[in-house]
Amino acid sequence: MTIRICTAEDAALIAELGRRTYDDTFRQLNDPKIMDAYLKKTFNIAVMREELSDPDSVTALLSEHDLHAGYLKMNFPPAQSDFNREGSMELQRIYVLREFKRRGYGRALIEYAKEMAEKRNCTSIWLSVWEENPEAVSFYEKMGFYKSGRRIFMMAGEEQSDFVLTYDL
Ligand SMILES: CC(C)(COP(=O)(O)OP(=O)(O)OC[C@H]1O[C@@H](n2cnc3c(N)ncnc32)[C@H](O)[C@@H]1OP(=O)(O)O)[C@@H](O)C(=O)NCCC(=O)NCCS
Repeated sequence: MTIRICTAEDAALIAELGRRTYDDTFRQLNDPKIMDAYLKKTFNIAVMREELSDPDSVTALLSEHDLHAGYLKMNFPPAQSDFNREGSMELQRIYVLREFKRRGYGRALIEYAKEMAEKRNCTSIWLSVWEENPEAVSFYEKMGFYKSGRRIFMMAGEEQSDFVLTYDL
């Protein structure tokens, strides 16, 4: 297993991994029109290229031999989607493809995130997770995160209620 930092050259690959995982995980829980609008807006190659070029954001890709299994997106101030507190890292996305779940890759990506946060002298990591994604909440709690608040996430114009979870380094 390898984990490497992505560049703008990886935009098409990251967009595809993100779109597939988001679709597999959330399609059955959402209005198809909202879902399609969100996927189109979020996981397109131009947006990915821009995000991958942001110096305050790091995306890391996990692969097993030639197969890409998932990725992680970490944001530092001022590139976070909310709060932007000095000394914090946002874990904005962690996606493991359906066929690679439950093999320890999610844990490996979280460990990578914790190391990255330490290297950048952060004192905490925060993330926002949909209340209707209890599997991810259980996973994060297993990784040492705790519920520290709530937040509204806008999904293509629709409000979703999220838990904010924090990990103290
Ligand atoms: C959440 C996610 C990243 C976990 O990745 P994963 O590779 O399947 O997780 P791991 O195999 O590393 O599991 C690590 C630990 O979390 C636990 N865990 C993983 N998935 C879980 C689930 N669905 N329910 C409860 N616990 C879970 C495992 O039991 C494991 O503990 P163990 O090592 O003691 O057995 C992955 O399921 C995923 O990408 N889901 C879809 C996208 C998503 O919801 N992302 C988060 C959005 S905020």
